[in-house]
Amino acid sequence: MSLTQTAIDILARNDRGGFTIPTAGLYPYQWNWDSAFVALGIATYDMDRAWTEITSLLEGQWPDGMIPSIIFRSDDPDYFPGPSRWGKTPGPIPSTGISQPPVLATIIRKLTQTCTPLDQTRRAQVFDAVFKWHKWWHDTRTVDGVVATVHPWETGRDNCPEWNIGLKAMQVAADLEPYTRMDNKHVHPSFRPSQEQYDKYLTIVQFGDSIGWDQRRLTVEGPFLMADPNLHFVLLRADKDLSAIAASLGKPQAILDQIDAWVAKGDAATDTIWNPDLEAFTARDLRSGRFSTGFSNCSALCFYADSGSPEQRAKTLDHMSRIATNVGFMLPSWDPNAPDFEAQRYWCGPLWPQMNYMTALGLSEQGQADMAARVQNDLCRAIEKSGFWECFNPLTGEGCVGNNFSWTAAVWLSWQHENKLKGAA
Ligand code: DGY
Repeated sequence: MSLTQTAIDILARNDRGGFTIPTAGLYPYQWNWDSAFVALGIATYDMDRAWTEITSLLEGQWPDGMIPSIIFRSDDPDYFPGPSRWGKTPGPIPSTGISQPPVLATIIRKLTQTCTPLDQTRRAQVFDAVFKWHKWWHDTRTVDGVVATVHPWETGRDNCPEWNIGLKAMQVAADLEPYTRMDNKHVHPSFRPSQEQYDKYLTIVQFGDSIGWDQRRLTVEGPFLMADPNLHFVLLRADKDLSAIAASLGKPQAILDQIDAWVAKGDAATDTIWNPDLEAFTARDLRSGRFSTGFSNCSALCFYADSGSPEQRAKTLDHMSRIATNVGFMLPSWDPNAPDFEAQRYWCGPLWPQMNYMTALGLSEQGQADMAARVQNDLCRAIEKSGFWECFNPLTGEGCVGNNFSWTAAVWLSWQHENKLKGAA
């Protein structure tokens, strides 16, 4: 069977009726940015179902505009922390109390590049919800002009060594309720975050629940507060795409001005995450001002967001060229020359399909065709070698963590589709 057919079959098998889980067992619910990428993949063969993926995600939106990282439509005893551990959340469907990187506006724009009248209608139907979510990031999660995160899970890159500074600065709650991890029952513990990290993740959840998930208080008073290049660049890019969508829909000037102000604020904040010692974009602890110490795959998203000075972009490319000589498969989630690199432990080294997608897109848009091709081809080679895994060992291309993974299938389908269109042109 062709890899393209296998990818379509994976998405069909992970379909739970209107929404798609990342993979059976390990992640049995609807995840936020996973669903956005899933929509991109499904759109290559079933546009109606792709839009259903988006509207089902929006069904979980909270009254304050937040779209949670996980929507719990059931209570699966095989996953922890499930709905009961997050406590009473104010959304229409039980959920986590944190969000995830807002790629949705970018994906919606990609999905409807052609803009038929039907596409315009669909865009119009979801615009207000997406606008409200972006407003939430800017009003509720922004500190001193830069978008912040309150939880490593919210960044989507749970145990990346980027978070070590912020996690070290916080204490595990003395009254942390006991719990049993389920992730390590599905996959080998060497792929997953450590126990100490889990205690801290759960401490933040317990804090959020204790303040009734008041999101501004969680930002300002919570145990963890860091700026993240992933959230920063993904939101900035998404704001730019939202601006284009708003203009194409003929939205009122006040809306266009609001989005432009977010873009200007975002572009200005890019310097906040420029680590002058490392000469790279890194995470930053917003309480101590300290920078994280390694180049990650999110450092390279400046191209995707079309942000940062020519010098900053040149330094970013220098890092990438150096790393490219050290790994078989670009782009590792953590610098192989940095301390804490681990080739198969989740965000401490493996390359990630959705990150390679955004990185290659940004590089090619900004005229860096060679590096874009390397990033894209390396993921394709890893998939050809190992299959549709959640992430891959950047030294060997072997698959890590979850198999039959939805966003891996989706990225593959999206690139195959683009290649076909290019071939037909
Ligand atoms: C998990 O369960 O590992 C997820 O990454 C949390 O969102």
